[in-house]
Amino acid sequence: MSAKRARLDRFISQHCQIPRKQVRLILAKGRVSVDGQVVRDADCQIDQFSQVMLDGQALRHEQPIYLMLHKPVGVVSATKDDEHRTVMDLLPDYKDKGLHIVGRLDLNTSGLLLLTNDSRWSKRIMSPEHKVAKQYLVTLKAPLTQAYVKAFAEGFYFAFENITTQPALLEILEPHLARVTLHEGRYHQIKRMFGRLRNQVMALHRLSVGNLILDETLAVGEYRPLTPLELASIFG
Ligand code: URA
Repeated sequence: MSAKRARLDRFISQHCQIPRKQVRLILAKGRVSVDGQVVRDADCQIDQFSQVMLDGQALRHEQPIYLMLHKPVGVVSATKDDEHRTVMDLLPDYKDKGLHIVGRLDLNTSGLLLLTNDSRWSKRIMSPEHKVAKQYLVTLKAPLTQAYVKAFAEGFYFAFENITTQPALLEILEPHLARVTLHEGRYHQIKRMFGRLRNQVMALHRLSVGNLILDETLAVGEYRPLTPLELASIFG
């Protein structure tokens, strides 16, 4: 997912189909504003949500969208799939809004799934440097012991990726129920970690991403936009 930044003169030139030389003259005359401020600098960097106006007419104004979905089991975290229903099928009002998924969940995992058209925001959530915590509720086939807590804290070596997983927090809530906190998102990570301990994940549900907790009033399959407060506090 690219961050979609562009030079102002290039954007206007492409959008209006006029040469860059002419765009620089237009800029010099103060006919262009970006987010309400007159800009004369051709080098000015804009992003996908900058409001660019020429002679008072909006050239483009894309609104950022941030959604939380209560993902059901049996729905694929993808925008297209030949076999299963996708999460996009649950969001008919947002069909052509250029949304992408922030951190997929497996077909048989439920819980908090974020969707956005803001690639910088999703990159920040997913990037290993930011170590945004993701909490899961995990139901296991065999009972848990303290050895699991230690093993999750120490990390597991995954030969396929040649990495050792970051320390993860495992809290035993009931003999067959754990809350697991990860700071990364490897392929089938939780299932593979429990698989190493010869235990099988029977159910997996994502509770939170950063400080953002799945809204309990959202029924399975429902979604809503994030509030400004949630957006401001997700990274802590
Ligand atoms: N770990 C998994 O194994 N599956 C998920 O969907 C998320 C984390």
